[in-house]
Amino acid sequence: MRVDVVTIFGEYLQPLSLSLIGRARSQGLLDLRVRDLREHTHDRHRTVDDTPYGGGAGLLMKPEPWGEALDAVLDDPPPGAREEGPVLLVPGPAGEVFTQRTAVELAAEPWLVFACGRYEGIDARVAEHYATRVRVREVSLGDYVLNGGEVAVLVVVEAVARLLPGVVGNAASLTEESHAAEHDGLLEHPSYTKPASWRGLDVPPVLAGGHHGQVARWRRDQALRRTARRRPDLLARLPVERTDPADRAVLAEEGWVPGDDGRFRPTPAAVAD
Ligand code: ADE
Repeated sequence: MRVDVVTIFGEYLQPLSLSLIGRARSQGLLDLRVRDLREHTHDRHRTVDDTPYGGGAGLLMKPEPWGEALDAVLDDPPPGAREEGPVLLVPGPAGEVFTQRTAVELAAEPWLVFACGRYEGIDARVAEHYATRVRVREVSLGDYVLNGGEVAVLVVVEAVARLLPGVVGNAASLTEESHAAEHDGLLEHPSYTKPASWRGLDVPPVLAGGHHGQVARWRRDQALRRTARRRPDLLARLPVERTDPADRAVLAEEGWVPGDDGRFRPTPAAVAD
């Protein structure tokens, strides 16, 4: 996969040289290129920002350097690029929320381009213009505000690159995680390693019992309970038809019962908690 990142703070992306992502780059699985937006300014101060029309706090990024920088990236496609070009990702708090589903979609692409905004973001015409030429996705990490898109690039590249073949050694570790589709979008169960007893806390005996069926049942129960307590929004999306009677008994203990729409809903008592 080829990834181009346009930014005024290339140093922010240095962590992408470390660990599994760094290794994927040296093995040629990931061709990550960081490009400096300021190379596409033409004034003495290498200006990339200006005040917003209509007033308001802060500065916006000007469209001209972005146009030049992104044109230069699009003029330099990787060998396997699609006819429709790359996906242009623009991180920002007003984007669609980035999820594991987004990561899976992006991992199927041969080419991603990131435009890192700073200040109050980028003049809206940049996304509007490039949407006529490539697929543009504005993505948000969540409901909070960062200083710029660089941290989001770290997050998105890590989440996507680890799905590429050969980047993570053990393929099973991908499907056994929280948010993996194979686990119905539930949170992952807790995990333990040796020693069996630590600071007065014992590993749940079922895990050392060697009975695979019982281990699987215990893990499923834990995943359901955790999701009910921590992420009711995820549990509300679990289809009742994806559950067995044991699942439903555990969920009833957590205060969740099947509703008429084929999804679970919290009982009034559970909502009051
Ligand atoms: N830039 C600023 N805030 C952001 C957010 N929440 N997600 C992605 N990029 C951002």
